[in-house]
Amino acid sequence: MPAPRLEPAPGFGPTYTEMLHPKTLPAAIRRKALAAHANELDPINLYNITWRKPDNSIRHIVLPKKLTGVEANIVVLVGREFPSGSHKVGPAYATLMEGELAGEIHRGENTIIGPSTGNFGIGVAYISKLKGYPAIVIMPEQMSAERYQRIRQYGGKLDLTPGSESDVILVLERTEHYKKDARNKVLAQFELLPNYRFHRHVTGGSALEAAQAHGNGQVAAFVAAPGSAGTLAAGDAIKEQFPDAVICALEPRECSTLFNNGRGTHRIEGIGDKMVTLIHNVLTTDYVMLIHDDDCVVGLLQQRQAFIETLLQLRAGSLRPFDGVFGISSVCNILGAIRLARHLHLGPKDNVVTIATDGFDRYPSVLADLAKRKPMASDRALRDSFEAIFRGGSSADILDVRPRQEKERLFRYKQETWSKFGYSDSYLEGMKSQSFWEGEAARVAEFDSALLKARKS
Ligand SMILES: Cc1ncc(COP(=O)(O)O)c(C=O)c1O
Repeated sequence: MPAPRLEPAPGFGPTYTEMLHPKTLPAAIRRKALAAHANELDPINLYNITWRKPDNSIRHIVLPKKLTGVEANIVVLVGREFPSGSHKVGPAYATLMEGELAGEIHRGENTIIGPSTGNFGIGVAYISKLKGYPAIVIMPEQMSAERYQRIRQYGGKLDLTPGSESDVILVLERTEHYKKDARNKVLAQFELLPNYRFHRHVTGGSALEAAQAHGNGQVAAFVAAPGSAGTLAAGDAIKEQFPDAVICALEPRECSTLFNNGRGTHRIEGIGDKMVTLIHNVLTTDYVMLIHDDDCVVGLLQQRQAFIETLLQLRAGSLRPFDGVFGISSVCNILGAIRLARHLHLGPKDNVVTIATDGFDRYPSVLADLAKRKPMASDRALRDSFEAIFRGGSSADILDVRPRQEKERLFRYKQETWSKFGYSDSYLEGMKSQSFWEGEAARVAEFDSALLKARKS
């Protein structure tokens, strides 16, 4: 008799709880998923959407203090091992999964639309391929070449809008056009709450666990540069456990929208989208910090690893575990975490947690461009830029957004953008209360039990 198929129907996948704790998966599914790592187009890989390694520990790195120059532990969660190469596959999966459970999205009837600046689009194309949907990714035309390549590789179609990272509003406007055809289903990362739920439950839970092994085991601060602001929701889980923890949102200095309504172009792909996204819980954001975009491009640690090791008098090859682990926004997050730790005078017991959304594989073309723009001729020039980048930053770049008037300002920005896209004043008003976010987080249980029921049937 043939062995029963272990693959669930392509419509299914893990619950939020199983993404946080894959150990709770049926053992046969977990085993099969781990064995399928190398074959990324096997649909069983849906069950590899998790921050955990096969041994169930959380994928993270604590940066050497010689590199950070601060006493606090800078704990970086590593996203590039997620299927498709970045943690953005998590919100893509969660949004499609909730849409299916709500009976709004059906395989064979619908086309999936992914408004994005790249990694979410890659995640959408990937998840759609695994689940058997056609996908169209709408994104700006000036993102890294590696992004378009991946989307095509997963069979996604591309619809490109003018401009770059900071022209996401054009992507949202193009998305409205697709909504006119009811067969198109938009995984709207900037406005749908599964993005918040994934990060609050899965990323937040993983961040808390990663910190347990370091310093005092608590989290003093969480730092992330928002694109959709989904990742920032991990901070809400952290605050639930450690109410004194601080959440800091980073922005490119060149596009300082949260800081002071600045709206320029910049080079940090994935973040700084010229808006307060609908799913950004501004109530729990304590600080906004500006980071110069070129610091992040130049600071890609991989670029001159041997040089950095010599400069810091590290053992040769001791940075090797970081090889390829960081993309540009990861460097931004690392710089933000270091500067916040310095600003808050955090000590050796304190943990600052941040995220490396994707790895270096998405950026060789960007470094090639950098080499043309800024030939880094001498070691002296590199040494100076290292000092400026890793030991630099000024408190003038940090804004405390805890006062009520700052919250009101951010709410106003949110309202300006989202009332144009049809959100009512009363819905937007509701978001000004923490109970809105608690209610949305609590829905994890509802979706989990609906999914388990669907899997059984
Ligand atoms: C490379 C990169 N970094 C950071 C982010 C920001 O993450 P989030 O959208 O969760 O705010 C994104 C989002 O697409 C990204 O692609």
